[in-house]
Amino acid sequence: MEIKKQFFKQPVRLLAPMEGLTDPLMRQILTQIASDLGRPYDWSVSEFIRVTQTVLPAHVFYKYVPELHHDAKTASGTPIHVQLLGSEAQLMAENAAYACELGAPAIDINFGCPAKTVNNHRGGSVLLDEPEVIYEIISAVRQAVPTHIPVSAKIRLGYTDTSRMDDIRGAISDSGADWLTIHARTKTQGYKPPAYWDKIKAFNKLSIPVIANGEIWNAEQSQRCMVQSGTTHLMLGRGAVTRPDLIAQIDHGHQQNLGSNTTLLWEDLITHQIKFLEGQAKNDVVLVGRYKQWLGMLTKGYNEAQILWENVKREKNKATIIAALQSSTQL
Ligand SMILES: Cc1cc2nc3c(=O)[nH]c(=O)nc-3n(C[C@H](O)[C@H](O)[C@H](O)COP(=O)(O)O)c2cc1C
Repeated sequence: MEIKKQFFKQPVRLLAPMEGLTDPLMRQILTQIASDLGRPYDWSVSEFIRVTQTVLPAHVFYKYVPELHHDAKTASGTPIHVQLLGSEAQLMAENAAYACELGAPAIDINFGCPAKTVNNHRGGSVLLDEPEVIYEIISAVRQAVPTHIPVSAKIRLGYTDTSRMDDIRGAISDSGADWLTIHARTKTQGYKPPAYWDKIKAFNKLSIPVIANGEIWNAEQSQRCMVQSGTTHLMLGRGAVTRPDLIAQIDHGHQQNLGSNTTLLWEDLITHQIKFLEGQAKNDVVLVGRYKQWLGMLTKGYNEAQILWENVKREKNKATIIAALQSSTQL
């Protein structure tokens, strides 16, 4: 039992799965920045792949996780775990086994998604009210997947409230999961601050590692999260998109390979933004829309982004936005 707790030799830092936000292009950029700053992510998790009626064809897995073509790693070498969402244990198991055949280095199961369409089909966070189904799904997936490939779960504290936390912990304990990530809010609490890091503590009784997630936007919050949750393992979500150097800031002073240069200046972030705008997408309209989503988030992390945002928020032309970005150092 204790062996599993030791599974992570050091505190791990993960980039969160975020549908429509940390897609393959964004993962590529954010994992590159983290590597360049000397503190690569230990891994990231794909956006959820929804399992409903069949074993999905290979092209669906490749669409969500094109990294599967490259040893399931981003260009900077960060592994990408495949996340599945669904409620039929056997079907989840078959899809997980197939994902492993395609090269998935680990399978994560989503029990946190708050989306109505997903919840109405008994998927995501609604299953937090049915811990026995959580148990069935994880154990079926665990049995179907080769033993050397880890199976993990990502949960919230509950659906409408935290009253089933003990049952959820029990279900996970018996399921054979290799670790657990906890977004420290209920489904009802959505994405609104605060996150209840102290509630994670109750899960530390498990024999597996626990990863804390939710509302970490700066190094100071990461420290408080670690103290209150009682775990040193963290998953970073929106904060990592807003400040791509967040991971390096968090481990600054704690890691030997991290020099003093852990801050990503706006000047250096410009190149990455241009790479994003030159990346692959269905078309330029999609790409520009996605870039504006990112820029909107960067306005919370960089003053320069606020000025640029005012200049380009109505702009539709990609080349014009790139030109504005290039001159944004002189703003
Ligand atoms: C736009 C968006 C999409 C998300 N998509 C997923 C997803 O596909 N799978 C998942 O497990 N969590 C998903 N999440 C939840 C995040 O992984 C994370 O748990 C949550 O954002 C809390 O962390 P944060 O406060 O650091 O952002 C999503 C969150 C956001 C904001």
